[in-house]
Amino acid sequence: MEHSHTASPQIAATTAKLTVRRLGVDLSQGFSRHWNGGDAFLTAYCNALSMSFPVGEQFFVDSVKAGLKALPDTPDNAALRETAKGFIGQEATHRRLHSLYNAHLLKQGLHNAWEPRTAQRIAKAHQDFFSKSDKPYLHMLAVTAAFEHYTAIFGDLTLEDLDGPGDMFAHAEEPLKTLWRWHAAEESEHKTVAFDLYQRLGGNHGWRLRWFTFVSVQFTLDIIRQTVNNLRHDQTLHKPSTWWSAFKFTFGTHGLVWRVVKPLLAYRRQDFHPNDVGSPTAATNWLTRHADRWTPVGQ
Ligand SMILES: [Fe+2]
Ligand SMILES: [Fe+2]
Repeated sequence: MEHSHTASPQIAATTAKLTVRRLGVDLSQGFSRHWNGGDAFLTAYCNALSMSFPVGEQFFVDSVKAGLKALPDTPDNAALRETAKGFIGQEATHRRLHSLYNAHLLKQGLHNAWEPRTAQRIAKAHQDFFSKSDKPYLHMLAVTAAFEHYTAIFGDLTLEDLDGPGDMFAHAEEPLKTLWRWHAAEESEHKTVAFDLYQRLGGNHGWRLRWFTFVSVQFTLDIIRQTVNNLRHDQTLHKPSTWWSAFKFTFGTHGLVWRVVKPLLAYRRQDFHPNDVGSPTAATNWLTRHADRWTPVGQ
């Protein structure tokens, strides 16, 4: 499982300083059971995603920290190092807010099976795989870059058609509408970090693809399992309206599968870079238009 050192040629030419934001949302009052437009499926699906974040984003932070440790302290790497610090700050904030969000889901009677399963999987990966590699941080970064591709796509799906027919949060209630859009914007904003670190540290194309395939299968199964779990606890699993919504969301005119196929295939290209796909302006536009909802921290 040695990681060969032949890097792909593409490394982002530009890295920007990332702002860590404190979001002005109050989750203390909770939210309705079907907060996403009264739609049981859309709510259960987004709740499932939220359940995976605290443990998943901790792994992303650990991977980037491990990568930073291995990154030579040269002027060439200074900008990437700075951006990576912003990444760590942003993901830490996401974890915190999604933990508060998830605490309310427990109160609503939902059961988070995804989190402990992922925690176990990560522990096992460290024990059986990462620790046996000569460069464990490259494998961790490849896994993180794969997940970050998914979260960046999610960011684009959320922000590119705001309030339009393809916007899954168009009818969501506050404060979750703002929380999801802020998270989407920051995912889009920091989508190059894990990928660039992986490339800069000599990560190769073969392992990038292997981990991407692994993550794709695992993530798809996990999101389906947890969504069904949530619907079961919500007692809406067997309602025809739930299945109709799931079908429209997945295969409808603005369905998920049609929208994700291009960026997912793009990731497999040898010369792929995260900046090749998605909107370069959607995240900045949202953040600028909603500047009253957040304050920068520690800058
Ligand atoms: Fe995040
Ligand atoms: Fe992220």
